[in-house]
Amino acid sequence: MSHEVAVVTGGSSGIGRRILEELVEVGYRTVCFDRAERELTQAGDGDIGEAFFLVDVTDAGGVRDAWAQMVSEVGPPGVLVNCAGWERASWFIDTDEEFWRELVEINFLGVVRMTQLFLRSAIDAGVRGRVINIASEAARVGSAREAVYSGCKAGVIGFGKSVAREVARYGIRVNTVCPGPVETKLYFDQPEEVRSKMVGAIPLRRVGVPADIAGAVAFLVSEKADFITGQTLSVSGGLTMA
Ligand SMILES: NC(=O)c1ccc[n+]([C@@H]2O[C@H](COP(=O)([O-])OP(=O)(O)OC[C@H]3O[C@@H](n4cnc5c(N)ncnc54)[C@H](O)[C@@H]3O)[C@@H](O)[C@H]2O)c1
Repeated sequence: MSHEVAVVTGGSSGIGRRILEELVEVGYRTVCFDRAERELTQAGDGDIGEAFFLVDVTDAGGVRDAWAQMVSEVGPPGVLVNCAGWERASWFIDTDEEFWRELVEINFLGVVRMTQLFLRSAIDAGVRGRVINIASEAARVGSAREAVYSGCKAGVIGFGKSVAREVARYGIRVNTVCPGPVETKLYFDQPEEVRSKMVGAIPLRRVGVPADIAGAVAFLVSEKADFITGQTLSVSGGLTMA
C-alpha cells in the first residue's frame, strides 16, 4: 500500500472515476480535480478518495489556487493522471475558431497546465513522481469528426515524450495511455453508425470499459513500471498495433 497522494483530473465520471477507484484500491490517497460535481450515486460506487476540487482545467488561476490548497491540506502528490477531456463530434469543415480553441484549452493546455504544477511540486518535494496522460487512439490512427480533438491528443503524446526527457533526471516518469473507444458518456454521445464502425475496426471485437484503462494506469504508476518512461500505450483491443 502506497499512501501516496494521486491527483486525477476528470475523475467525476467515466474513465477518470474508475481510475480514482483503482488507485484507492491499491492504497493511494486520491484527489479529484473536475469541473463537474462527482456522481456519487452511480451504480457500483467504489471509494473514490478523500478530496475533491471543483475546478476547470482551462482556468489557469483557479487551477493554481486549488493546487496550492491541495498541497497544503493533503500534501504534495506523487502521481498525476490527466484524464479530463471533452469532445463534440463534428465534420471539420463545419467547425469554427471558437470550437477549436475550446478543444485545445481543455484537451491540450489543460494537460500542460496541470503537468507544470505537478512537476514543480514533485521536484520541490524531491518526489519521484509519475504523470499519466490520457490521450486517445484518435491521435494515432485519426478519427473522422474528431480532427481538432485528435490533433490535441497527438499534441499530448509529443508533449509527454518531451517532458519525460526533461524530468528523467529527477526520477520522474511520464507516460501516455491511448484508449480506443470506451463505454462512457463521451462514447455514447457518438452517433450509432460511428459506434458500430468502431467495434468493427477492433480485433478483439468489443469496445473498452473504464476498468481496462484504469488497470493500465495502475500498472504504469506502480514500481513494476519503474523503467518505463516516455511511452505511449494503446489500450484498445488491438485497434492499433504500432
Ligand atoms: N470514452 C472514450 O471512448 C474515450 C476514448 C479515447 C480517449 N478518451 C479520453 O479519456 C478521457 C476521459 O473520457 P471519458 O470517456 O471518461 O469522458 P467523460 O465525459 O465521462 O469524463 C470526462 C470528465 O472530464 C471532466 N472535464 C471535462 N472538461 C473539463 C475541464 N475543462 N475541467 C475539468 N474537468 C473537465 C468532465 O466533467 C468529466 O467528469 C478524456 O480525456 C477522453 O478524451 C475517451
